[in-house]
Amino acid sequence: MPFDDYRTALVTGASTGMGAVLVERFRLRGLEVHAVARDGTRLAELAEKTGAIPHAVDLADTDSIEERLGGLEIDVLVNNAGVSATGNVLDASRGTVDAMVDVNLRAVLHLARLLLPGMVERDLGHVVNISSIAGRYNFFGHTAYHATKAALAQLSRQLRNDTVGKRIRVTEICPGRVETEIFGRNLGGSPEAMQQAWETYYEGYESLTTADVVAAVDFAVEAPRHVNLGLIEITPTFQVPGGLTFDRRDA
Ligand SMILES: NC(=O)c1ccc[n+]([C@@H]2O[C@H](COP(=O)([O-])OP(=O)(O)OC[C@H]3O[C@@H](n4cnc5c(N)ncnc54)[C@H](OP(=O)(O)O)[C@@H]3O)[C@@H](O)[C@H]2O)c1
Repeated sequence: MPFDDYRTALVTGASTGMGAVLVERFRLRGLEVHAVARDGTRLAELAEKTGAIPHAVDLADTDSIEERLGGLEIDVLVNNAGVSATGNVLDASRGTVDAMVDVNLRAVLHLARLLLPGMVERDLGHVVNISSIAGRYNFFGHTAYHATKAALAQLSRQLRNDTVGKRIRVTEICPGRVETEIFGRNLGGSPEAMQQAWETYYEGYESLTTADVVAAVDFAVEAPRHVNLGLIEITPTFQVPGGLTFDRRDA
């Protein structure tokens, strides 16, 4: 079975949210797990709890990616780290645009550049990219977030082309709304912001939980080696993409 074939995994965005829960699942599956995020304290707690190997790395820093992660031999790479922002491109700051491009897209390309050749050489590997329904549908949200997540979809398909003929699988997971810190971080990340985000985005809704997304990743990795689950879109039952805006000329 595939989890038995694999020895190591690297999960980005592992300090909280779906990344942290995924690290726990992969450890239970018997993998050596490299857990990547910026918050060293949280990673140390996760390492203590799960036996994962912590790497406090800022994914916006390409030198750090190369130095700290570039030499690892990774069988299962999960690009989960992601950042978002409020507003759209009309009121975007330079910093938020750069952060989204750097973390959501640029780091993923660099990790592919650094870790995929080893997978090809070993003829074994699985890349899981956590994108979003924001990459597939247009709805209110930050333009840069939608754009980087759409790029992740194309990147996922292209990696299949880059590695065709090798036993390397690529899965894009597109979640709808999941109960995590992401909306609270958009509002500043303070405890008050987290509470405000909870009341605005989660209170009264049946959102996905981190466990729901982790189950999808686990399913894709555990599928037989000749099976590539390319795209999994997973939304809350009550969340439906759709709608068309047609504003009046004099609106
Ligand atoms: N929650 C949702 O509703 C939802 C829906 C669709 C897709 N997604 C996607 O799912 C993924 C996980 O999101 P989440 O909801 O679990 O978010 P989250 O709770 O906000 O966690 C984000 C993770 O990314 C890490 N991260 C952020 N910037 C980083 C950087 N510069 N370098 C290294 N790590 C960084 C954070 O760790 P540090 O702060 O410690 O660095 C944290 O571990 C993201 O790609 C997100 O876009 C989320």
